[in-house]
Amino acid sequence: MNQIAIICVDDDASILDSLEIELHKIVKSETDLTTFEQLSNLTHDEYLIEMVDNGEECLELCQELLANGDEIALVISDCIMPQMRGDELLKQVHTLSPNTLTIMLTGQAEFEALGNAIRYAKLYRYISKPWEFEDFKLTVTEALHSYHQEQKLIAFYANLEEKIAQRTQELQQKNTALLKLDQERKEFLAIAAHDLKNPLSAIQGLADLIIGDYDTLAKSEVTEMVNMILISSKQMFEIVNNLLEVNLIESENMKVSLQELDILPILQVLVNRYVVPAQAKNITLNFKPKPESYYTLADVYLIQRVFDNLLSNAVKYSPFDKTIYIRLTQLANTVRCEIQDEGPGLSEADQNKLFGKFSRLTPAPTGQENSTGLGLFIVKKLVEAMKGKVWCESQLGKGSSFIVEFIGNSETRA
Ligand SMILES: Nc1ncnc2c1ncn2[C@@H]1O[C@H](COP(=O)(O)OP(=O)(O)OP(=O)(O)O)[C@@H](O)[C@H]1O
Ligand SMILES: [Mg+2]
Repeated sequence: MNQIAIICVDDDASILDSLEIELHKIVKSETDLTTFEQLSNLTHDEYLIEMVDNGEECLELCQELLANGDEIALVISDCIMPQMRGDELLKQVHTLSPNTLTIMLTGQAEFEALGNAIRYAKLYRYISKPWEFEDFKLTVTEALHSYHQEQKLIAFYANLEEKIAQRTQELQQKNTALLKLDQERKEFLAIAAHDLKNPLSAIQGLADLIIGDYDTLAKSEVTEMVNMILISSKQMFEIVNNLLEVNLIESENMKVSLQELDILPILQVLVNRYVVPAQAKNITLNFKPKPESYYTLADVYLIQRVFDNLLSNAVKYSPFDKTIYIRLTQLANTVRCEIQDEGPGLSEADQNKLFGKFSRLTPAPTGQENSTGLGLFIVKKLVEAMKGKVWCESQLGKGSSFIVEFIGNSETRA
């Protein structure tokens, strides 16, 4: 720990001796010790009492102490000395260490020096020679008291400033984040409104047609229009669902409950669900997993949403008459699921935009399916929420593979 110095300067050795004795007495005295300790949390050992007999030496000592990281609480100096006078010395001490308190020992008629010291050296008190010990003690004790209080205030303000700077920075960061969020919300709303407008105007147009021409329309025509209304409303429903899901993910209120589960039956159910849409395009779903358990830690609802999105894409972007391969592999610490298609594949530029929000890329649906560009964004967030990984391997014109890895639960398997 760094020390707190009290320096005395006098060319008279006998005065220096008595100053030294009295200062040690003051610092060590029981009653004052309590005051010092309360003020500075210091014990008397941590006070450094130094005696020097001229101004130059005092300045050198001050520089040395400051360089060492010590503090100089008090400099008590004689006024008239052969080389440097006391008022000049205290002025220079004040320049070196502005928080140091200074006390001058004066004889009679040294008013000019006192005035200088008050003006230029932040003179705390002067003591007339010869002094009474009790007076000296009171002055020194009060000086130290005052010094420690000022140090505490300085530390308090420094800490306050640091806290204010920190809070200001935090507020600025929050403000930037809020502005970004606000911008995203605006974009989100604009795209959502745009996407909802098409099916909505289709529904409105068809309903108008039915009402206007009801008497002249054939029953089959009405049925066809109602079917189209159903398709459009289903589209809107999907969009709204996706938007709500994104909103839930971004609000960070999504509940994730990881539990050990076997992926195989879950995946099988979803693959079965896509048999009919795939058949409509004469697409074969090739899923021949080894009949074993594929245990992992995952959330049963979220994992279904992940596979649903990936299978939906494979069917949606595959041309007619192709095959989609679904593979499940148990690796050392993970369970891997791969959905590979023979579709158009993705360029490198498109691959860089995959998993972004509203990223409808070059490949377009091959059977007039709906596309909001949110599915893979949702997939990535859900997989990450389950501490898994998802990525795409693809070459333009050579199909795409979407791979998901979930953390395995090998202990459960054993
Ligand atoms: N298997 C795939 N093959 C080729 N392109 C794909 C494939 N999967 C996704 N894409 C491309 O990536 C884009 C983003 O896919 P994503 O699933 O996020 O949205 P989407 O399918 O357009 O809409 P939805 O929100 O209904 O899923 C798609 O628009 C498509 O261009
Ligand atoms: Mg999709």
